[in-house]
Amino acid sequence: MPQPIEQIEEVSARADAELAAVKSPAELEQFRIKYLGSKGEIKGLMKLLGGLPKEEKPPFGQKVNALSDRVSNAFEARKTDLESGSQPAMAEDVTEPGRRPQLGNRHILMQVIDELTELFGRMGFTVASGPELEDEFHNFVALNIPKSHPARDPLDNYYVSIDTGEGRSSGFEDNALLLRTQTSTVQIRVMEKQEPPIRVVIPGRVYRPDTHDETHLSMFHQLEALVIDEGVTMVDLKSTIMQFVHAYFGKETKVRFRPSFFPFTEPSAEVDVYFEDKQRWVELGGCGMVHPNVLKACNVDPEKYTGWAFGFGIERIAMRKYAINDIRYFVENDVRFLRQF
Ligand code: DAH
Repeated sequence: MPQPIEQIEEVSARADAELAAVKSPAELEQFRIKYLGSKGEIKGLMKLLGGLPKEEKPPFGQKVNALSDRVSNAFEARKTDLESGSQPAMAEDVTEPGRRPQLGNRHILMQVIDELTELFGRMGFTVASGPELEDEFHNFVALNIPKSHPARDPLDNYYVSIDTGEGRSSGFEDNALLLRTQTSTVQIRVMEKQEPPIRVVIPGRVYRPDTHDETHLSMFHQLEALVIDEGVTMVDLKSTIMQFVHAYFGKETKVRFRPSFFPFTEPSAEVDVYFEDKQRWVELGGCGMVHPNVLKACNVDPEKYTGWAFGFGIERIAMRKYAINDIRYFVENDVRFLRQF
C-alpha cells in the first residue's frame, strides 16, 4: 500500500489524464461522480486522515483540499468547453492554414431580375406575378388571339392534361390548360383584380416547345410591363423604354422601334438595341398600345383609359449585359459559369 501522501499524487495524476480524455457530457458526469462525488476518490482520500498521526493531519488535509479545488476547477473549465463545442486547447493546431468558406451566390438570371425590378421600381412600377399553368382564356382569348390563330397550334404549346377530380381533362376542350407561352397573361390577371391606374412589371417563366440551341430554350423568362391610365400615349411607352435602356445598358446606347404586329397591341412595335461591341442590333422584344379588345375583356373602359405594354426576353437582356454567348449556360448548372457572377 503506497503512503497516503503518495496516494494523493496518484489520484491527482489519474484525474488529470481522465479529464483530458473526456469527450462527451456523459463521460464528464462519470468523471465527476468518480472523483468529486460524495463517494468519490477525493472524499476517499479525506477518510485516510483519520488513520494519520496527529502532526501529519494538517498538511495532508491541506493537500487533499488543494487537489479537490484544482480538480473542481478543471472540471468546470472542461464543462464550459464541451458546452461551447470546442476541443481542449491542445487539440487545435494553430499552424494549420485557414479554410476559406465557400460562399454561394444568387443565379445570374435572378440577379438580373432583381436589377430590372429595382430599376423599374425607381420609375414607379410595382411587381406582379401570375400562374405558370394557365388557361386558354388568359393566354389567348383575352389577349385578342382568336381560335384560328396559328399561335394556338397544339404543336407550339405545352398543353397539359390534368386530373381535376372531376375526371381527366384531355387538354383540348374549351379553355384547356397549358404552360403559359408569354407573361402577357398576367396583364389580364392584373386588370381583372385592379382598377387603373396600373403600373406594373411582371418577371416570369414562359414555355415553348422549341429545340434548344444557343439562342433558344423551351423554358425562358420574360419581363412584361403594363401601364393603364387616363391619357396614356405612345410617347410614354417610347420614353419609358428609352429611359430603361439608357439606365441599364448605358447612356449612349442606341434604341430603335420597328413597326410590328401583336394581336394584343395596336399599334405594335419591336424594340432593338444596338451593341457597339458586336456591331449589330439585338431585339429585346415587343411592345405597343394595349388593344381596346384586351381592355374590354378585362372590363376596363377603352373610352376612358389607354395603356401600353411590353414583353422583353430576360435571358437576352442578361446575355447582352454580361456578354454571355450561349443561352444554354443558364440551365447547365456548371459552377465554373455560375460563380463568375
Ligand atoms: N407576348 C409577346 C411575346 O411573347 C411579347 C409582347 C409583345 C408583349 C408586345 C407585350 C407587347 O406586352 O405589348 O412574343
